[in-house]
Amino acid sequence: MNESEFIFVVCQHRAESALKAELLREHPELRLAFSRPGFVTCKLLTDLPKNFILRSTFARTYGWSLGACTGNSSDQLIEQLKPLIANRSFDQLHVWERDAAIPGQGGFEPFPTELATCVGNLLAEDLNRDREVPLVTNQPATADQTVLDVIIIEPTQWWIGWHVAATTAARWVGGVPPLVRDDELISRAYYKIAEACAWSHFPLRRGDLVVELGSAPGGASEFLLEQGASVFAIDPAPLDPAIAEHPRLMHLQMRSKDVRKKEVAGARWLVADLNVAPNYTLDTVEEFVGNQHLHFRGLILTLKLTRWELADALHEFRQRVRQWGFDVVKTRQLAFNRREVCLVAIRDRIDIRSRRR
Ligand SMILES: C[S@@+](CC[C@H](N)C(=O)[O-])C[C@H]1O[C@@H](n2cnc3c(N)ncnc32)[C@H](O)[C@@H]1O
Repeated sequence: MNESEFIFVVCQHRAESALKAELLREHPELRLAFSRPGFVTCKLLTDLPKNFILRSTFARTYGWSLGACTGNSSDQLIEQLKPLIANRSFDQLHVWERDAAIPGQGGFEPFPTELATCVGNLLAEDLNRDREVPLVTNQPATADQTVLDVIIIEPTQWWIGWHVAATTAARWVGGVPPLVRDDELISRAYYKIAEACAWSHFPLRRGDLVVELGSAPGGASEFLLEQGASVFAIDPAPLDPAIAEHPRLMHLQMRSKDVRKKEVAGARWLVADLNVAPNYTLDTVEEFVGNQHLHFRGLILTLKLTRWELADALHEFRQRVRQWGFDVVKTRQLAFNRREVCLVAIRDRIDIRSRRR
């Protein structure tokens, strides 16, 4: 028997059509139900385990749906929430707002909002009155904890659900990694690569050498340098002066195809974030991966969805990278991605296991 008749799935603002198409293709046991930009619910036609995992690139986070609350005040909303969660126990409370825009557009980033923090505090205060052990609120869950989810669809409508923190992203509030930084970053690409590494347990270590295609102005390089890596930054455009002279960075100011591949021999990892269509990114990366002087153990690629129809080709893109000899190839639309997805490939599965340990 299922925990509920419905599940909820959260995605990027306006990625719901791609998400729905993917869910119908990968999960014939689901029927689409209520949806809003960035939020979809589905009815279940068969049983799922309580810690089910969706095969999805576009699902940022998901769980069992318990229903909606509507009201003009938090008191009204909280009173409606209580019967929905009666007789259930949770370790954590996650409250967040669905995205208001595409990340990076008009300054929007999927960070915790003031409203979500305020609702989280009010709810925790109320629910904790009857609890011996207080609910931890808006903190990353630990593995396999049970999380009560409150998704603010509108200030007057909350969606209530719960999930088991069965994956790394499922531990984060709303599937968004806790990456807020107060200092100014060179570019928002810093968040993308930080999230890609956290989500995939990317086995980058201090002292590793990374080839980065499309590195200007240098947000991702900034992150890689902070991790103790050395970077071959390849881009015809200039780098931000804050990192251009870094002793562990070498800027090859040219297009990727003009790089003499021997010059970057010894690099373990390849990162690519080119503002071109996915097949062109893959052609460019293949020139490096297939070169006799180079041996990459892992890749982090940004694939730009210059047209939404490209979402249907993700399977082919993964297949193409698998054929280069990578054991693990997976895609996710990161919380900090724009209209693009992240592809991570690891040559040897054992690398990820050692990273998790
Ligand atoms: C989205 S930006 C990269 C952002 C960068 N990763 C960061 O961390 O700030 C895309 C970059 O790809 C570069 N680019 C496009 N085609 C390229 C090519 N064939 N070789 C190298 N760089 C390329 C552009 O010059 C541009 O700077």
